[in-house]
Amino acid sequence: MAERTLRLFFALWPDPATQAAIAAVASEIAGEAKGRAIAADNVHLTLAFLGAQPAARVPDLCALAAAIEVAPFQLALDEIGCFRKTGITWLGASAAPPELVALHAGLASALDGVGIALDARPFAPHLTLVRRASAPVRRRLPQPIRWSVASFALVSSETLREGPRYRLLEVWHAGASR
Ligand code: 2AM
Repeated sequence: MAERTLRLFFALWPDPATQAAIAAVASEIAGEAKGRAIAADNVHLTLAFLGAQPAARVPDLCALAAAIEVAPFQLALDEIGCFRKTGITWLGASAAPPELVALHAGLASALDGVGIALDARPFAPHLTLVRRASAPVRRRLPQPIRWSVASFALVSSETLREGPRYRLLEVWHAGASR
């Protein structure tokens, strides 16, 4: 029988109020970007995209993530930009906090240790606001959205006809003693 695989990624998953604030920006700009705003429940920031992995690997991935030290931090989301090739309009932070850079680096190094190589391109932290965008939108938000980041998660994604469905498989809290 074929081995069961899951499409996996590590992500920062905002609390519902922050997700709603970000989704409101997505709805505001979707018309201008000529694309489809992301649903509030799906709003996230990908730290490390693992792609298809054997489901049997999840416990090892959880052990690896549990060993990563992460301090809570604030993220001021103040910048809207776009990836024109993939038709994505995103929300990001003009200043990436060192804790975020360290969390990404820690995950990348631990994953490398188990033979999972991440995208070689530099980490471009972003939250997708709009998909299938055909018009570029780039601007600073007059009022940044302030997100208190206190956890990260291992997430699986399934592509359904109505769009992606994400499942949080495990969550690790920042500053928790290990
Ligand atoms: P996106 O929002 O910019 O499309 C689940 O698909 C998550 O992983 C999404 O946040 C998606 O980013 C990201 N993702 C998908 N494919 C990726 C890849 N090849 N490299 C990095 N991130 C990827």
